[in-house]
Parts: sequence; C-alpha cells; structure tokens
Amino acid sequence: MALLPLVVANIQDIQTRDNTIERRLVEPVIAINPTDANFGISAVAPGRFVTSADGTKIFAEARGNSSKPVIVFIHGFGIGAMAFNEIFDDPVWLDQAYLVRYDTRGHGRSDKPTTAAAWMSQRLAEDFDAVVQSYSLIKPFVLGWSIGGTHIADILSFHPPNYISGIIYDAAVPDMASLFNVSTPAADALQPGLLTTTNVTQFQATYIEFINLCHPALEWNFYLACLGDGVVQPRAATALLFSRTQNSTAVLDVIAGWQRLNVTTLPGAEHFTWISRPVLFRATVLQWISQNA
Ligand SMILES: *[C@@H]1O[C@H](CO)[C@@H](O)[C@H](O)[C@H]1NC(C)=O
Ligand SMILES: *[C@@H]1O[C@H](CO)[C@@H](O)[C@H](O)[C@H]1NC(C)=O
Ligand SMILES: *[C@@H]1O[C@H](CO)[C@@H](O)[C@H](O)[C@H]1NC(C)=O
Ligand SMILES: *[C@@H]1O[C@H](CO)[C@@H](O)[C@H](O)[C@H]1NC(C)=O
Ligand SMILES: *[C@@H]1O[C@H](CO)[C@@H](O)[C@H](O)[C@H]1NC(C)=O
Repeated sequence: MALLPLVVANIQDIQTRDNTIERRLVEPVIAINPTDANFGISAVAPGRFVTSADGTKIFAEARGNSSKPVIVFIHGFGIGAMAFNEIFDDPVWLDQAYLVRYDTRGHGRSDKPTTAAAWMSQRLAEDFDAVVQSYSLIKPFVLGWSIGGTHIADILSFHPPNYISGIIYDAAVPDMASLFNVSTPAADALQPGLLTTTNVTQFQATYIEFINLCHPALEWNFYLACLGDGVVQPRAATALLFSRTQNSTAVLDVIAGWQRLNVTTLPGAEHFTWISRPVLFRATVLQWISQNA
C-alpha cells in the first residue's frame, strides 16, 4: 500500500483499496502473518507490533495529536483493543487526547503465550513499557477496563507511581486478588464454560453470554468482532490470565494516597460503559484529565 508523506503527526493521506486518497487519523496499515504464536491470524490492521522484553509481540495503535495528554487504554478479558473502537473513532476524544491502545498478551493480534512464565506479573508490566517506549509516551494516563484494571497493579509493582499521570478505573478490577470479590454471580458462573476444552457447545454458549453481559444490544458488526476476539484466544491463555497472581502492595499504597479522586456513576450503563453512556463517559474522563494533566 502506497503512503503519501506524513502531513502532521498521526494524520495521513492514505491510498484506499479503491485507489482514492483519503485523510485518516491512523497509522499505516500493516500485514499480520499467520504464525503459531498469534494463533493463525492473517489480517491487515492499522497499528504496529512492539516487542516486549520476553520477545512477545504486542499489537499497539495510537491515534490523535501526540501533543495532547496521553491516555493508554487497557481492555478486559476476551475482547481486545478493538473494544475501544467507538472512542478511537470519535473526533471529540481525538481532539482532546492522544489515544493509545494495545492488545494485551493472549488477545487480539498480539502473541498468545501459554506458558506460566509468560503470565508472571512483570511480563505484563513489560508489555505496557514496550508500548510506552515505542510511542515515546511521557507519564500517560492509564485507563483500565474490567480485568484490564489489574495491569495497573503490575505496572506499579515495577515502576514508581509517577511513571503515570493518573488512573481511570472503568468498571475495573484493581488487582487479581479482588477479582471474585467484585465480579457478579452471573460473571462468575461463566468460568467453567470459558475454560472448557472438551465441550464446544458449552464454550460457544458461554462466550455469547459473556458478550451479552458486557452489553445486550451491540451493533452487529461490533458484536461479531467481540465474538471473534474470543475465538482467537487459546483456552490455555484464558486459564493463565484468570489464575495469574501479582503483588498488590504497590497499587494499594497508591490507592490509599489517592489525590483528586473522583468517583462518577454512569446511570444505567452496561459493562461497555462508553457504548452505554458515550457523552457522559467522555465528558467525565476528559474533564478529569484536563484538571490533572
Ligand atoms: C496538537 O496539539 C497541540 C497542543 O494542544 C496544538 O498546539 C496543535 O495545534 C495540535 N495540532 C493539530 C494538528 O491539531
Ligand atoms: C475477598 O473477599 C473475601 C471474603 O469473601 C475476603 O476474605 C478477602 O479479603 C477479599 N479480598 C480482597 C482483595 O478484597
Ligand atoms: C456440553 O455443554 C452443554 C451446554 O452447557 C450441555 O448441555 C451438555 O450436556 C455438555 N455435554 C457434555 C458431554 O458434557
Ligand atoms: C510486594 O511488594 C512490596 C513493595 O511494594 C514488597 O515490600 C513486598 O515484599 C512484596 N511482596 C512479595 C511477596 O514479594
Ligand atoms: C467528578 O466529575 C464530575 C464530572 O466531570 C463532576 O461533575 C464532579 O464535580 C466531580 N467531583 C469531584 C469531587 O471532583
């Protein structure tokens, strides 16, 4: 694919597959080759692969104006960084923040290691570091959604608190030790079906139920993408990501000293908070960021 010269950071005139030239706030489209590590995915996507300290390839993407405050979005279980599509396609978000996301290991377009060593806390912190270094991010804000919030405990176990500017817990689990304390009985009941390697019927029904619990009325193409991200994850990776442990001391120390804490309830929101209450969610996050950047 031909690319015209960069106009400004992250804004490019790209040649589409129809041979027209269009301006996009995205990175060059790159090819993803099917390999054992990424579980046979062959695709093209905007973004870049960054290499984590243990060699795991992590798929990352940044959009917007890199001079704005940076927010790194960390997705939850099953559904990769595409979970945030509505945010990353929104000109209002893009006008006020530099948006960065990545498929955490075991998800989406990133490698999906299935050894216990690959799921030690430090490895997940190093994935974040690789994204930070690749995009030269300085003190980003970090938004953790759902079980993605636990990655912030990993990050702060290996870095001082001022490595990041602030934390946004979006319907999040702060650490693995709290997982089953904050999850709903309906979500807990999904565990066996998400982990089964012998009953396809059960896995299929359970993963569909998981998506429905995240939001019961998603736009069809997005719903299919959520289902697809579930299918590309090896069950062995699912088991490791649910059973992994971490040292919560550092994040609990940071939480104890919270400054400028703001707890905002999004009335009637589903687990996909930004899809349920897009305007309120956006205003809440961007206002808090602007006060703390
Ligand atoms: C990027 O953001 C900076 C800081 O707000 C601003 O000065 C600059 O004009 C922005 N660039 C574009 C292309 O919008
Ligand atoms: C989770 O709940 C159990 C009791 O149900 C409690 O013993 C434990 O301390 C809680 N863990 C956390 C991290 O809150
Ligand atoms: C597989 O799962 C389905 C749905 O949960 C269940 O009805 C069925 O009995 C299971 N089959 C076996 C062989 O366990
Ligand atoms: C957990 O981390 C704290 C520092 O944040 C450290 O003092 C403690 O020894 C660690 N615990 C374990 C079990 O490694
Ligand atoms: C929290 O954020 C909301 C939405 O931006 C704002 O209305 C509220 O005043 C804030 N509360 C505190 C305590 O800062």
